[in-house]
Amino acid sequence: MSNESAPQPALEKLADSLQQTVNGIFQAGGVPGKKARNFLNGVWLGHALHPLLTDVPVGAWTTAAALDLLSGADDKSDLAAGADAAVGLGILGAVGAAVAGITDWSDTYGEERSIGLTHMLLNVGSLGAYSLSFLLRKNGQRKLGVALSLAAYGTTAFSSYLGGELVFRIGSMVNHTAFHEKPGEWTELMDEADLPENTLHKADANGAPVLVVKQGNEVYALHDICSHAGGPLNEGQLEGDTVVCPWHGSRFCLKDGKVIDGPATFDAPTYEVRREAGKIEVRHVSSH
Ligand code: FES
Repeated sequence: MSNESAPQPALEKLADSLQQTVNGIFQAGGVPGKKARNFLNGVWLGHALHPLLTDVPVGAWTTAAALDLLSGADDKSDLAAGADAAVGLGILGAVGAAVAGITDWSDTYGEERSIGLTHMLLNVGSLGAYSLSFLLRKNGQRKLGVALSLAAYGTTAFSSYLGGELVFRIGSMVNHTAFHEKPGEWTELMDEADLPENTLHKADANGAPVLVVKQGNEVYALHDICSHAGGPLNEGQLEGDTVVCPWHGSRFCLKDGKVIDGPATFDAPTYEVRREAGKIEVRHVSSH
């Protein structure tokens, strides 16, 4: 990484302390904390929750800006009342988006963490400005409130751009297995005799990394790359019939690849397994 893009020490310290605080809160919550974390990551939704929630403040505050401009100097018009309501709705949505976003961010590092922190600080600034704007509007200082919210709209727009950078350039919270080739035809993986019982074993199926696990009479095969950020599942932990990723602790079911615990929100691709003349063969069957 060049010096130009190296994060500032002060921001690094802030990021360290924020991540420790967020992770500490979830860990102190035990099982309910884990469930809350899974909910906020979007495990139940099948993709990240945060970008869905950001539509609320961005949409509401865009509406507010349009209504403010249309209402002009007429403070008492229905347009002005609608703008004020849209500012309030955006504040509620921004709080939800912030909680989900900081949960995703708590598992990041490097450039992703630095850009995520800047994105977060800008959004906190916008939220504060819109909250103050709302109070000013309700206390007879609407013009000042409108000016403040229009300035905050610019900050929100730039922060949204950074959110796009995080997803589309860096690949934050996208499916890290989406573009991997996986053999759709039966492909020889290894000799069954070489596969130890109850061990995370990495094998290769025509270039595709496969995690293969034998438990009793069953052999399970998952794509070896974690869907969250590309962690090597074979270096994780085998816990019962699940595998826990070594990087951020996502847990996948060996039988069907389902995400049990985030931060991953996409299931692990699975392979059908068959034994032929002492060999283990696999093929990937797309769920789409
Ligand atoms: S890479 Fe993050 S949990 Fe696997």
